[in-house]
Amino acid sequence: MNFNKYDNVLLEATDGIGTLTINRPKVLNALNSATLQDIGDALREVESHPDEIKVLIITGSGTKSFVAGADITEMRSMNTMQALALSKLAHKSFGEIEDLPQFTIAAVNGYALGGGCELASSCDMRIGSAKTKFGQPEVGLGTIPGFGGTQRLTRLVGRGKAKEMIATSTMISADEAYRIGLLDELVEPEELMNKAHEIAKQVMKNGMIAVALAKYSVDRGADLPLDVAVDMESQLFAETFATQDQTEGMNAFVEKRDSKFTGK
Ligand code: CAA
Repeated sequence: MNFNKYDNVLLEATDGIGTLTINRPKVLNALNSATLQDIGDALREVESHPDEIKVLIITGSGTKSFVAGADITEMRSMNTMQALALSKLAHKSFGEIEDLPQFTIAAVNGYALGGGCELASSCDMRIGSAKTKFGQPEVGLGTIPGFGGTQRLTRLVGRGKAKEMIATSTMISADEAYRIGLLDELVEPEELMNKAHEIAKQVMKNGMIAVALAKYSVDRGADLPLDVAVDMESQLFAETFATQDQTEGMNAFVEKRDSKFTGK
């Protein structure tokens, strides 16, 4: 499958697994406006190719960095309105990651600072290694996280840890990130992409509509009152009973055979 070529990201897919690589290694994959735009454009391609991409892995180019944050060189002379536009552009692109029907895995291959930690936090799960370092260094630059760090990070690790990371602007190790639940899996550096592929393959064995509805339910339900959230879950649960995958999955169980899901 040939996807569009982008200046700042690479999009490729093999055997149903897509990889979106942030590709500005000279600046440790820092996110300027053009890169945020490319991420959004690439995600729209991902969404429109559900057969070619069932699971999307997001990673950074090179061996040192996932994403070292927003591009400080571009940001430093911005005025208030330009900063607002940059933040809104990032929220649009990162919101699109969260809203993708496909399951997303951040393979955090190095520094995930500022916008990098925020990008990883927008994915469905995060895998790291001893090379992974997270941080929200913005207050050290006289600003605050503006790509979701005060919101998504807080929802992942709780208010206290998020505020500690933000207010101290210090980096945390992969061990610490794993301990506080920011990393879901911790592996040897050379195993990072293998682990991401292993999890992707496990996800792909299942009904893809069910995976999409389940992640939607988890994400949307998290900020709703419990009674409203469980009601939403009932509706989505019922919706799966209108799919061929539900019929196939349950028939396969009863007939003691592997299911052949079609995503319909
Ligand atoms: N923006 C622009 N350029 C960056 C960058 C960034 N966020 N991070 C690294 N670079 C550039 C460096 O300027 C350097 O370029 P030159 O070779 O032209 O000098 C190159 O990438 C390599 O970086 P270093 O030489 O600094 O590499 P290092 O190994 O010594 O340090 C690092 C690595 C600790 C990650 C360090 O680069 C660093 O601290 N980077 C900035 C991290 C940061 O503050 N990120 C938050 C940005 S603000 C933000 O993200 C706001 C938000 O919420 C939207």
